Amino acid sequence: MTLRHFLTGTELSCDELGALLHHAAELKAAPLSSRALEGRSVALIFERPSTRTRLSFEAGVFELGGHPLVLRQGEMQLSRGESAGDTARVLSRHVAAIGMRTGPDAVLEELALASEVPVFNMLTAGHHPCQALADLMTLREAFGRLEGLKLAYVGDGNNVARSLALLGALAGVEVAVASPDGYTLTGAPDAQLTTDPGEAVRGAHAVYADVWVSMGDEGTADARRAALAPYRLDDTLLDRAGPGAIALHCLPAHPGEEISAEVLYGPRQRIWDQAENRRHAQKALLALLVSG
Ligand code: CP
Repeated sequence: MTLRHFLTGTELSCDELGALLHHAAELKAAPLSSRALEGRSVALIFERPSTRTRLSFEAGVFELGGHPLVLRQGEMQLSRGESAGDTARVLSRHVAAIGMRTGPDAVLEELALASEVPVFNMLTAGHHPCQALADLMTLREAFGRLEGLKLAYVGDGNNVARSLALLGALAGVEVAVASPDGYTLTGAPDAQLTTDPGEAVRGAHAVYADVWVSMGDEGTADARRAALAPYRLDDTLLDRAGPGAIALHCLPAHPGEEISAEVLYGPRQRIWDQAENRRHAQKALLALLVSG
């Protein structure tokens, strides 16, 4: 079998994505039912801060019987100029899979090209496919299906929006993205794009928000907050979505900015389930990646 990576999420077929989400639900019901990583280690390279991704992968690898090796920026020779390719060549001799959170997608691609074990994306500037797996799992839990659902994303057309649109299309979820001019999503041909949040949420089963100032965007924070202010996910916007619509957010959240505190902590959110589902969905991903 060819070496399998998970860089954008579109490496999966529709059927594989469906099976992965089904397995994730089984693992949620029985967290210790798979020993897919028994006696094996997984490298988790973090060149950017993380709470959820680090916790969910570290705990998830352990639950699969494996050993997580968390490698932070500054602790590796990567920080002193060793290439991503040479790093992958060495790590491949020790671990069953390599995850990386970094900035440029090209760094992750260089790592994957040289790796002899599966490489997975723990967030790059372009993509956050592990987040999208948990998002789809949460939608499936809430509605019992994915095919035919509509998800509206309001805000910056960033890596989270792109991965939702790409994996949503694979799962049969209609994804509408509302962003102001200058923040429009690119690279997701199936997404419905608009500048009008009301139009995006019409008939939606879920409304999704993300931070207005992502990692690396701090230099333009004031301009972003001004442009994105009309895209806040609050009860008024959620009321304009379909009946029974839920609120999603990948976290960390800034209550009062991109989401109101009433929605973030209110009865219509599935945000904290979504954060938990990172672990279950990623365990199913790891089991798939190391099975080849
Ligand atoms: N949603 C997410 O990726 O969270 P962290 O940045 O805390 O990992």
